[in-house]
Amino acid sequence: MDIQKIRLDFPILSRKVNGNQLIYFDNAATTQKPRQVTDAITDYYNNHNANVHRAVHTLSMEATEAYEESREKISNFISARNLSEIVFVRGTTEAINLVAYSWGLSNLNKDDEVLLSLMEHHSNIVPWEIIRKHKGFTINYAKIKQDATLDFEDFESKLSKKTKIVCLNHVSNITGTINDVKRLAKVAHENGSIVLVDGAQAVPHMKIDVQELDVDFYAFSGHKMLGPTGIGVLYGKKELLENMPPFQGGGEMIKEVSYNKNKCEVSWSELPGKFEAGTPNICGVIGLGAAIEYLKGIGMEEVYEHEKELTEYTVKHMKECDKIKLYGTNDLSKRCGIIPFGVRDISAHDVALLCDNYGIMIRSGYHCAQPLHEILKLKSSARASFYIYNTREEVDRFIEVLKAFN
Ligand code: ALA
Repeated sequence: MDIQKIRLDFPILSRKVNGNQLIYFDNAATTQKPRQVTDAITDYYNNHNANVHRAVHTLSMEATEAYEESREKISNFISARNLSEIVFVRGTTEAINLVAYSWGLSNLNKDDEVLLSLMEHHSNIVPWEIIRKHKGFTINYAKIKQDATLDFEDFESKLSKKTKIVCLNHVSNITGTINDVKRLAKVAHENGSIVLVDGAQAVPHMKIDVQELDVDFYAFSGHKMLGPTGIGVLYGKKELLENMPPFQGGGEMIKEVSYNKNKCEVSWSELPGKFEAGTPNICGVIGLGAAIEYLKGIGMEEVYEHEKELTEYTVKHMKECDKIKLYGTNDLSKRCGIIPFGVRDISAHDVALLCDNYGIMIRSGYHCAQPLHEILKLKSSARASFYIYNTREEVDRFIEVLKAFN
């Protein structure tokens, strides 16, 4: 992997912030975009802009072709069985809401249970808590250990014959902990539960094969993997999606609407159209397709190895500084390139602001995962998170800056 060559594709990386060379370590929040992605979006708007699936004219045909080509790229990228299993949504949050409202409202009842974990992002907690108020089912939360890994025994003990769905992240957005989704899905399926995985922090960083993982739903966002904001994907097994009612109504998702005696009878489009109501985010889909091409050009094994190596290097050097406290597991084979930490006597927000003075972008706060912070007894945390364009030299500068705080 030629990082210096990769960096040239990202114009933003050459800018300065507060007089310093930008160091962007907030990739778990969103990643930067290479020219190949912004060029694809500009080309669509400059040369092919039209609505998709609606008209017979040339521009609409071209736009539809580009849109559907991206679906194919995404389907291949995560090894889905079928193009109809790839539903475009706004992002991971909307994907989980789609499952909660569509599958959840029609399948969950008062005596049922949903199993989540205490390391979930709010977007994999709140939709379930909202629909629980409508349907009255029980939500159980699997515990996590003090090193921020999932307590597997507790997870297993909370699976019961009443558990209809298990919803877990693949990689924690706070600690970078990688969950053994394949094992968890196997245990859940043996119990008769279906499995939804929040893959927002996994798809950008490692090779994902949804068939090998054997999960029922898998959600991710484009903007965390070099693509634009406002576009994401819900993968769902065809037989499940086929039996679910639409999430939103409007154009595109219908087969027929016929008026009869003061009432409209409505039938739905085939998958995935049934779940894509309204004019979709066409440029977002095309941009995400370009991002996937870019990542494939590097190779996901290479991406994973690069981040692993950078994480090991960073953790080793941060450990040498006694005022830095690292959170999360010491077993780096169970971690992605996300490093949560604290600096003695300095609040997380102040650490982030001080870093900003030196042109270094990190995130601070709860990172949309307040329960996890409560369990780890943290008021908040600072977080550095890496991607393909980050280097050891940037890490050296970051640690030098942290060491200089007093
Ligand atoms: N979920 C994103 C993060 O972890 C925004 O920062």
